[in-house]
Amino acid sequence: MPPVTPDVVAKAELHLHIEGTLEPELAFALAERNGVPLPAATQDELRAAYSFSGLQSFLDLYYALMTVLRTEQDFADLADAYLFRARGQGVRHAEIFFDPQAHTARGVPIGTVIDGLCRALDAAPGTHGITTRLIMCFLRDESPESAVATFESARPYLDRITAVGLDSAEVGNPPSLFREVYALAREAGLKCVAHAGEEGPPSYVWEALDVLGVDRVDHGVRSLEDPALVDRLVADQVPLTVCPLSNVRLRVYDQLEDHPLRRMLDAGLLVTVNSDDPAYFGGYVHDNFTAVRDALDLDDETLRVLARNSFRASFLDARTREAYLAEVDAC
Ligand code: HPA
Ligand code: ZN
Repeated sequence: MPPVTPDVVAKAELHLHIEGTLEPELAFALAERNGVPLPAATQDELRAAYSFSGLQSFLDLYYALMTVLRTEQDFADLADAYLFRARGQGVRHAEIFFDPQAHTARGVPIGTVIDGLCRALDAAPGTHGITTRLIMCFLRDESPESAVATFESARPYLDRITAVGLDSAEVGNPPSLFREVYALAREAGLKCVAHAGEEGPPSYVWEALDVLGVDRVDHGVRSLEDPALVDRLVADQVPLTVCPLSNVRLRVYDQLEDHPLRRMLDAGLLVTVNSDDPAYFGGYVHDNFTAVRDALDLDDETLRVLARNSFRASFLDARTREAYLAEVDAC
């Protein structure tokens, strides 16, 4: 287990794409192991491509690089590498997204993906001191029928999955298209989350709430453009999993100083801070905490509120959540 720095507050990470934790070093190792070509000759050349004009330009590289992931061992290695880094960032609990369609479309069976990830996640309480949940995301730039087929193919594995999510290119792909698969997920007893209001308009957040019935909104930063929506999110204390470094790297905001995180907290929203795709966006979750602390001049009490929010917004059972909250208070 890596050493945990004493001043790193305990936290949960609730918005983390496991494929977005693929660091260049591991990408090159897996490319060699599996004989898969990469879009760059060296790790430095690859990192030099991490300059994005928006969500789509990031997604193009994200999908290209994840083609190195082929075997159960690859997925286990990917998750284990994330968990090792996360523990050093104070993460005690992680609710982790994965994109099955991005792998099954390349001929990798969904069972290979889930079994590989679960091999690392099942060992994580012992190996890294981290509890986990798995969130299966549907790609919104694929069809609603493909999402339903993916859900059906995942039925044998649903005991491993806590929630469903919705990600990939947002604009033009509104949540309401995915009503059917969310109804199936809820019927099966799963929780529901969806990316909404990252690049898409506030109406997509309304749809995520009212059509999909989500328990949390991923990103949701554009909700601030609609006062009635803010009122609703505050009244119901719907958690928003905000990703500050991601928002700057994907040009939602020009610089961290412009990020509305403080305004969101002041409005009474249940905000959490997360890393999204840390291998691409310049930092893991504690790096996001320190970056917003510095850019927005947040005090220790506000950072503690954010850490508490991360457990409050989690899908943990009440007893475990309370135990983690006590850990935050003791930090
Ligand atoms: N937004 C939407 N889809 C994604 C992201 C994101 O930030 N990261 C990985 N898939
Ligand atoms: Zn995301």
